[in-house]
Amino acid sequence: MSSTSQIILLHEISQLKSNEAQWEPFAWYKEMRENNPVIYDAEQDVWNVFLYDHAKRVLFDHELFSNKKERSLIPIPRNDNRSNVNSCDPPEHRKRRALLAHAFTPRSLEEWRPKIQAITDELVKEMEDQMSVDIVQKLAIPLPVTVIARLLGVPAKDRERIKHWSDILFSPYNKEAFSDIAEQKAQAMQAFYDYLYPIVQEKRAHPVDDIISDLTKAELEGEQLTDREVVMSSIGLLGAGNETTTTLISNMFYAMLFDKPGIYQELRNDLSLVPKLIEEVLRFRFPASMDRQIAQDTNVFGFEMKKGQIIVAWIGAANRDEAQFEHAEAFDIHRQGNQKHLTFGAGSHFCLGAPLARMEANIALTTFVKQFANIQPAEAFDLTEHLIDSGVGQSLQSLPIRLESV
Ligand code: HEM
Repeated sequence: MSSTSQIILLHEISQLKSNEAQWEPFAWYKEMRENNPVIYDAEQDVWNVFLYDHAKRVLFDHELFSNKKERSLIPIPRNDNRSNVNSCDPPEHRKRRALLAHAFTPRSLEEWRPKIQAITDELVKEMEDQMSVDIVQKLAIPLPVTVIARLLGVPAKDRERIKHWSDILFSPYNKEAFSDIAEQKAQAMQAFYDYLYPIVQEKRAHPVDDIISDLTKAELEGEQLTDREVVMSSIGLLGAGNETTTTLISNMFYAMLFDKPGIYQELRNDLSLVPKLIEEVLRFRFPASMDRQIAQDTNVFGFEMKKGQIIVAWIGAANRDEAQFEHAEAFDIHRQGNQKHLTFGAGSHFCLGAPLARMEANIALTTFVKQFANIQPAEAFDLTEHLIDSGVGQSLQSLPIRLESV
């Protein structure tokens, strides 16, 4: 179980105490970039960086900034098993990543395209005769969880349970209720584990064409992964591929309605703009922060940082750094170089699922835009009613929109 000493409370570091402030943290990010680009939080013994170049250095330089961490922002109970792809550094990291990499090659993903399209078609069809719909509940949540469940080989009918466990694992800690939340997470982890264990055993005995079967055959250092290791890797993938992609799809719709009204018609006239919109949403409106443990004393950023301290790269702030993105505070799908954002990370740990997330978002938006002539915000839309606490930053739990059919 996690203890207070292992968890970094992101919102304790920042001025972003309410859900609304976390949803629109951009003025605070700007202030930090301009006045305190490198700042130390003594209470939690954590360094924070906000500029693009600094964030990128933190992600790339594993000799100074290691992924082997005693403490973390990530609110998921620790998984230190030897196949965990994220909790290690090169060269060890390369072998662990190879266990998963082949499922995410462009070729493997192309084989998945028709299945993702079919899942999306079904979800969009259910909206056909509706005047309004909650796009988070009807598309942004079910699409990623169904896709990742099918990729792993877990019954898609169980998607609600999977989503429930992964919501608990990702939910944020807070100081006041720390031990209750830790207990809830430990229970969710155990339930998730007990659910997956027999599935892994069955696939080891009778492998089929899916990621869990592949993992049961995979070897690390000449030894097959144990059932426990396969279960933990599967939980890792179900978590990594789920909440994040839901956030991307939800935020695409929010951005079209509120950050750039009118862009929907531009997309309808030219569907080739869909990938540009996705990259701009990832840059402009995505709650991302990443942490590393300082591996040796350093003053690379002009301050004395000590081995063992944690450093947080505020990716959402880096993505709005004017030194990298002209008029960075504007939502502009036509700006050159939007894809330089750091939302999928950078360096050796660059998100393995980025091509899958981009494909899901692309299929979701293209299919939706072809189907509906226009979208409008729901009447009397009040953002505060639709936000939830989220471990990674700010999230929508619902987004009602009005649909206009062709
Ligand atoms: C919009 C959606 C997504 C975002 C924003 C995102 C973001 C990230 C980030 C920032 C990292 C790097 C973490 C670090 O540097 O320590 C990462 C790693 C990873 N992501 Fe994603 N992710 C997304 C979707 C997915 C999907 C769909 C999958 C597939 C199941 C996935 C699987 C992974 C894995 C396995 C890693 C670990 C890679 C490593 O440590 O080498 N992600 N992701």
